[in-house]
Amino acid sequence: MPKTALNRNLHQAKNAKKDEFYTQLTDIENELKHYKAHFKNKVVYCNCDDPRMSNFFHYFSYNFEDLGLKKLITTCYQNQNRDLFSKHTSEQAIYLEYYGDKNNNKTPDVEEIGVQYLKGDGDFRSAESIALLQQADIVVTNPPFSLFREYVAQLIQYDKKFIILGNLNAITYKEIFPLIKKNKLWFGPSIHSGDREFGGTR
Ligand SMILES: C[S@@+](CC[C@H](N)C(=O)[O-])C[C@H]1O[C@@H](n2cnc3c(N)ncnc32)[C@H](O)[C@@H]1O
Repeated sequence: MPKTALNRNLHQAKNAKKDEFYTQLTDIENELKHYKAHFKNKVVYCNCDDPRMSNFFHYFSYNFEDLGLKKLITTCYQNQNRDLFSKHTSEQAIYLEYYGDKNNNKTPDVEEIGVQYLKGDGDFRSAESIALLQQADIVVTNPPFSLFREYVAQLIQYDKKFIILGNLNAITYKEIFPLIKKNKLWFGPSIHSGDREFGGTR
């Protein structure tokens, strides 16, 4: 194999690994504690989040009442789990809608979480995901690193407020740096070092 192809493959493998990096709950809490007041009566959308794995889903569902959220929407990309929250068998992606704790046990129970099926694979760029995006006031997630530029471009295009906890290397992208300069994207308070970024449109 020529060296350049090998390098490209290694690069792709590294990016694929970053694409599947899951955000720690403590990192989410450390950043989002600064914005509690902003979530009141808002629809939050986590659009790269498998609820079985995503601590963003965990954070917003468990803090739904504390934050005073209106609704939490989460889409799961390429869901292959046939038994997620139900006995239905499907390879379709799903999305969840959560309107808060109904039985006052302070837990988002399976029966309180509305599981809906998507026609496609839940790609954040799909028409179905964009329809959900349009309902959202604030988008919060850690998107796939390899699609970071497209991801941010879409949020700017739809004029959404957003918080991204992601890989800091993304700020070196030529498409991203101008957004920081224009103050359309800025660093969050929890960044002292390492692997986090915060953005939003003013
Ligand atoms: C870096 S991981 C972060 C997962 C989760 N948001 C978290 O922070 O723990 C990126 C996630 O995006 C999903 N993903 C990859 N491509 C996607 C796409 N085109 N649309 C939506 N989600 C995608 C991956 O399956 C992966 O779960």
